[in-house]
Amino acid sequence: MARPSRQTLAPPSATSLRRLYGHSKPPPPPASAFRKAAAVLLLAAAVALPCAVLYRALVSNTPPPVQVAWDRRQWDPPLATVVVPKAEEDRDLDHISADDLDIEYLKLEQVLQAASMDNKTIILTTLNAAWSSPGSVIDLFIDSFRHGVRTSSLLKHLVIIAFDRKAYRRCTEIHTYCYALVTGNVDFSQEKRFLTAGYLEMMWKRLDFLRLVLEKGYSFIFSDADIMWFRNPFPYFYPDGDLQVACDHYVGNATDLRNIANGGFNYVKSNNQSIEFYKFWYSSRLRYPGYHDQDVLNFIKHDPYIMDIGLTIKFLSTTYFGGICEPSKDLNEVCTMHANCCIGLQSKLHDLRIIMEGWRDYMSMPPSLKASGAFSWRVPQNCSLSLLNQ
Ligand SMILES: *[C@@H]1O[C@H](CO)[C@@H](O)[C@H](O)[C@H]1NC(C)=O
Ligand SMILES: *[C@@H]1O[C@H](CO)[C@@H](O)[C@H](O)[C@H]1NC(C)=O
Ligand SMILES: *[C@@H]1O[C@H](CO)[C@@H](O)[C@H](O)[C@H]1NC(C)=O
Ligand SMILES: *[C@@H]1O[C@H](CO)[C@@H](O)[C@H](O)[C@H]1NC(C)=O
Repeated sequence: MARPSRQTLAPPSATSLRRLYGHSKPPPPPASAFRKAAAVLLLAAAVALPCAVLYRALVSNTPPPVQVAWDRRQWDPPLATVVVPKAEEDRDLDHISADDLDIEYLKLEQVLQAASMDNKTIILTTLNAAWSSPGSVIDLFIDSFRHGVRTSSLLKHLVIIAFDRKAYRRCTEIHTYCYALVTGNVDFSQEKRFLTAGYLEMMWKRLDFLRLVLEKGYSFIFSDADIMWFRNPFPYFYPDGDLQVACDHYVGNATDLRNIANGGFNYVKSNNQSIEFYKFWYSSRLRYPGYHDQDVLNFIKHDPYIMDIGLTIKFLSTTYFGGICEPSKDLNEVCTMHANCCIGLQSKLHDLRIIMEGWRDYMSMPPSLKASGAFSWRVPQNCSLSLLNQ
């Protein structure tokens, strides 16, 4: 049986989304389509991870299941549709041999050094095969820097971390600083499907990699590639936050733990607190088996150990760091826009293009019109939550 993709699951209902915003009430019963999909999954006993997740979603009150579905939409499961033909696969293998990859790994220090700002700060994103095609997510990402306000110079501090061969090759074609994240026990030749054991392993590997970057003394902004950069984010960070993270939902107070963090965008200062926290976060995967690193962040943000570490967490306002879940209303203030709350790569691309068009229109307006604040986003369209709930 084919491994069920995330698209076979029903999107969260309006009720479940409301519940995401209010944690006081116990979870309502899951939508019937969701239950049906779960039943099918449960029958397929071999599919351990999705089952574990869904099962937990159905029978347990904690951790909150909707958050899981929500956060997982940050990454599309399109790798199944990207079939690399054998011939191309071979060509790819020629292009990047095992030796090249060894060299690449050794080059980490050099890449970080070359991309770093004077104060040892870098910008990181990750890339998989499906997002690397021409005209796809990575092109829009880089395009946004070029059209943002004082963002184009930030590209020389961006390191793209490639998860597979195709992504790596594309990166080398379009960008200066590329790094292939590969280790001996992960088969680099296999494309990872969403939420398979291999996929989760990749996500956790990424987190462990970020810890390594911190240990090397580099602070970073990590940004998913489906986030458009319209303004330089540095002036919007708090001077006293060790970990600053964007939100799917912002409650209006940067320290309130009821903010729903979205791990797709964060700024982390390299210090003892952040390194210890990343170790803790990584080790927490053992307490929440089958969960994605972003879900686990929303579970462990309440953990008293964070206080013991002395880590200061700041949640970033959606006024500046918005997304489709909660758009930044004023284009005079927006810093980044994330295509979160979106199911399916094609829908995501569609709405990202609308976001980019909107930004270009805004930029071409005369200052007086800009200042009037009359302009607003034409999204969500295909990513619409109300569409999901019909
Ligand atoms: C690091 O340098 C960048 C670029 O000059 C600046 O915007 C940012 O605020 C600096 N970060 C810190 C922590 O000083
Ligand atoms: C923000 O949230 C924190 C933690 O919940 C609380 O201590 C603080 O009083 C809140 N600040 C405001 C202005 O509401
Ligand atoms: C961590 O703390 C030690 C002292 O406890 C200090 O020497 C070191 O510089 C700190 N490292 C970082 C990255 O802040
Ligand atoms: C987006 O939605 C429109 C209708 O709302 C539809 O015609 C179009 O095919 C959709 N595009 C994608 C890429 O899903």
